[in-house]
Amino acid sequence: MINYKHLYERLSESSLAPWLETLPDKINNELTSKKHGRLNEWLEILAELPKIKTTDIALDQSFVKIGAQEELSHSQHNQLENTLRKLHPWRKGPFDIFGIHIETEWHSDWKWDRLKDHIQPLTGRQVLDVGCGSGYHCWRILGAGAKQVIGIEPTMLYVMQFHAIKHFTDNLLIDVLPQTLEDMTNNLQAFDSVFSMGVLYHRRSPMGHLFKLHDCLRPGGELILETLIIDGNVGKVFMPEGRYAKMRNVWFIPDTPTLITWLKRSGFDEIKVVDITPTTTEEQRQTDWMEFESLADFLDPHDPNKTIEGHPAPLRAILTATAV
Ligand SMILES: C[S@@+](CC[C@H](N)C(=O)[O-])C[C@H]1O[C@@H](n2cnc3c(N)ncnc32)[C@H](O)[C@@H]1O
Repeated sequence: MINYKHLYERLSESSLAPWLETLPDKINNELTSKKHGRLNEWLEILAELPKIKTTDIALDQSFVKIGAQEELSHSQHNQLENTLRKLHPWRKGPFDIFGIHIETEWHSDWKWDRLKDHIQPLTGRQVLDVGCGSGYHCWRILGAGAKQVIGIEPTMLYVMQFHAIKHFTDNLLIDVLPQTLEDMTNNLQAFDSVFSMGVLYHRRSPMGHLFKLHDCLRPGGELILETLIIDGNVGKVFMPEGRYAKMRNVWFIPDTPTLITWLKRSGFDEIKVVDITPTTTEEQRQTDWMEFESLADFLDPHDPNKTIEGHPAPLRAILTATAV
């Protein structure tokens, strides 16, 4: 059921054609790799989905809506909810799938609301969303008029969540691929807009990440970057010695001037800081669809300005920049 044939056909007729030299093999490797231990189980879960398509789709609202409740019988509805719940944990959303409200760990719609009026209009654009999770923002990007949206996401469960939703649609130019940014062909320089949100601080080499984002953009294309920052204006970078908010894979958290310098040195100009917002326990929280620990468990119970390890609590910036 996961088949990228139509995407490959489209790519072959576009400026992204050079990507096809490596992409199909990489995808085949991922879809047969033993490293995704539960892959077969997830594929069986996708095979349980009712085989219907809908055109009742709304992508310009907080709950990305695919299908209306009345399109399914009562028993199909219950069965669908059970099936979707098997893809727990649902982190990025929310979604409304045939009236089933998937309340995800993150209010990803809030991040979208913070950036949507500050970016170049997406109408007619070819867009890449790096580290797109379940693909929530890919749907919003498509809803904002993009010609084609491609998300890349190495965590296979999230790729499966995307497919569980896309399954009900037909002919939409939106795809999520099990890929990392590093897997992308060099010198593509073909996307009009590239989003990298919530990924930079997970990278051991932040400069490598920024250079590679630049390499995906056509000259004049726009980067939308969202990442953790520390408060301050003196050109500092915080590197946690151990965990940060219980995460083992947080490496570099710059202050804003440093982040701007990083962007300049990786080939961007027209750099704008369009938002700085602390993450709250309303925006990132445990829900019925994400039952593991969440932000409230990662903060100091006596001081919400600190993480449980005593570091500055999460503060996030959104920047836009143009590839020179
Ligand atoms: C914090 S989530 C952010 C999801 C989404 N972009 C958002 O802003 O809500 C970071 C995502 O980046 C993915 N990721 C980590 N390293 C990556 C890489 N090298 N290339 C692409 N994605 C990566 C992770 O699997 C994870 O789903």
